Amino acid sequence: MESEAIVIARDLVKVYGDGAEVRALNGLTMTVGRGEFIAVMGPSGSGKSTLLHIIGALDRPTGGEVWVDGQNLARVRDLDAFRARTVGFVFQLHNLIPTLTARENIEVPMMDQPVSRRERRRRAEELLERVGLRERMNHLPNQLSGGERQRVAIARALANRPALLLADEPTGNLDSQSGAEVVGLMRELNQDLGMTIIIVTHDPAVAGRAHRILLMQDGRIIEERRPEEMRVNDPVTD
Ligand SMILES: Nc1ncnc2c1ncn2[C@@H]1O[C@H](COP(=O)(O)OP(=O)(O)OP(=O)(O)O)[C@@H](O)[C@H]1O
Ligand SMILES: [Mg+2]
Repeated sequence: MESEAIVIARDLVKVYGDGAEVRALNGLTMTVGRGEFIAVMGPSGSGKSTLLHIIGALDRPTGGEVWVDGQNLARVRDLDAFRARTVGFVFQLHNLIPTLTARENIEVPMMDQPVSRRERRRRAEELLERVGLRERMNHLPNQLSGGERQRVAIARALANRPALLLADEPTGNLDSQSGAEVVGLMRELNQDLGMTIIIVTHDPAVAGRAHRILLMQDGRIIEERRPEEMRVNDPVTD
């Protein structure tokens, strides 16, 4: 069902450097369906972040091709517009602007889009409501807990209504309780809004909440697991 696929990657290769070459991706092929919640796991250095960067057009592959939301990324003329509108990114470090409030941080990605000031504010408030932080609207990042900051970062990633949310170890810096809340929020976004999500994680409890888990090694996907298989020793239950 390729028509329902939101991400198609074929034979992706990514080689970094020219002298001492690193093959970060080595013939990776994957398909993600619209509305799926996918976890990517694998050892450090297996290419997980590289894969997300290529899907999100933050970097280009050395070989192979990638289609996102019906667009071949090699042919996209305006990559800035693609990044701004089609994908939302959440990283391990929230990267919120410390001098701006939660609401203002969420408004930032809408600044260079054709969205009026009033509409920006309305959407930011709606998103804060959605991530459960309406009362924290006027707080600065350092007045929020780690989990709350990550929820603001998620709201910011959704500001331009992307088709796809990419999250690179979004719970990596959080205690297990806050991590569970952040993943719980992502699951809600997936279920309620049909948001397609790809999350990179080292945490089996986090991966256990996805629909499918892709295991990477040496720049390829070597195995696919079901969430039940991750939940064996999982302290987080729902
Ligand atoms: N900009 C770069 N220049 C050179 N090599 C890089 C660059 N970025 C990543 N690499 C190398 O590519 C390989 C894959 O890196 P990547 O960051 O994708 O791994 P990862 O699976 O995300 O690891 P981690 O779990 O530690 O975040 C690693 O060997 C890394 O050293
Ligand atoms: Mg990484």
